[in-house]
Amino acid sequence: MKISYSYRINATKPYAFAEIDKKVAAIIQKGITPIDFGVGDPKAPTPQFVIDELSKSAQKHATTGYPSYIGSTSYRESCAIYMKREFGVELDYNSEISSTIGSKEAIFNFPLGFIDKDDIVICPTPGYPVYKLGTEFAGGIPYLVPLLKENNFLIDFKSIPQNIANKAKIIWINYPNSPSGVMAPFDWLKELVEWANKNNIIIAADEGCYIDLYFDTKPHSILEVQKEGIITFYSLSKRSNMTGYRIGFVAGDERIISGFKKVKTNIDSGTPQFIQDAASLALKDTKHVELMRQEYQAKRNILIPSLESLNFPKTTANSTFYLWQETSRNISDLDFATKLLDYGIVVTPGSFISEKVENINPGKNFIRFALVPTIEDIKKAADIIARLKF
Ligand SMILES: Cc1ncc(COP(=O)(O)O)c(C=O)c1O
Repeated sequence: MKISYSYRINATKPYAFAEIDKKVAAIIQKGITPIDFGVGDPKAPTPQFVIDELSKSAQKHATTGYPSYIGSTSYRESCAIYMKREFGVELDYNSEISSTIGSKEAIFNFPLGFIDKDDIVICPTPGYPVYKLGTEFAGGIPYLVPLLKENNFLIDFKSIPQNIANKAKIIWINYPNSPSGVMAPFDWLKELVEWANKNNIIIAADEGCYIDLYFDTKPHSILEVQKEGIITFYSLSKRSNMTGYRIGFVAGDERIISGFKKVKTNIDSGTPQFIQDAASLALKDTKHVELMRQEYQAKRNILIPSLESLNFPKTTANSTFYLWQETSRNISDLDFATKLLDYGIVVTPGSFISEKVENINPGKNFIRFALVPTIEDIKKAADIIARLKF
């Protein structure tokens, strides 16, 4: 029997991070234990109190059926309390919040509720590839905007041509940003909201993945500007080392949340109740997040000097667990990543996670380090890097 894939699947490149996983597997096969800065998947365990709550709740819900599609009242209430505590934003947990099975599914499926064929969705590059893929699978057209060092990696929304803005339905933003690690200044957020409102463009702010991981000033939520026309995406994955739990939430304009819930209810069956209970407890706690920030800061302090010793430009960004390191002119991102692979060090070449805009790849000559290996491994990697010769 002949099996043929859909046009969409055939047109989709392999997921960038699946390619990195393959490189890691190849190193392991050679008998080398890799130091893996590739995929942003924390290796540190989920806090014990969260694991304890998970098993307690699993016993309690031994005979429950399907979970709530949009999250239990108690989970949504915990999300609302978190948003009020962290950003002073008041949200009605009935109409302005929904649970998600982690941000990835929510980001991928979101455009289905808001765009029709050939509508434009503005997506940053480099950026989380799911903004573009979700747009394409929903029949929309991604309009890629480069994140450039000269703009401090902020989207230059004012330079988006008016004919594009007229056809755009959604703009994706991601601050604190992967890969650059920059935060959006509050004034920039205000100006973006003004521009998007004027053009009737929904702001889809993937802000909550790294918003608790900062090292100096605390990032703002765009919901501090207003709720109208905005949906924000939050995740427990990085905040609480819960990538495996698959849980997050969306919050914002009740009309947008309502459309999102309609899509979600038809696609999935909700996050298991015991995971929601464990996540509620994690959201209530700030101590483990403070410890996590200290640990990432320690990792930055170990790795950054080794990169500076290579005379690479200084990395100054101050949030997320990524370092977006520019290489110097005589070595490309691919060459540097390949050289590191020889020592079992895995990093993501910037050009892998960026797309060309007007023939220029904005990720070219940048390397993304996800600071997820242990401190000991980062020390080993820093020693190797500091001794590299070009
Ligand atoms: C910018 C960004 N957004 C969203 C996600 C998805 O996170 P999750 O699906 O684990 O909540 C990631 C994961 O790495 C990410 O880097």
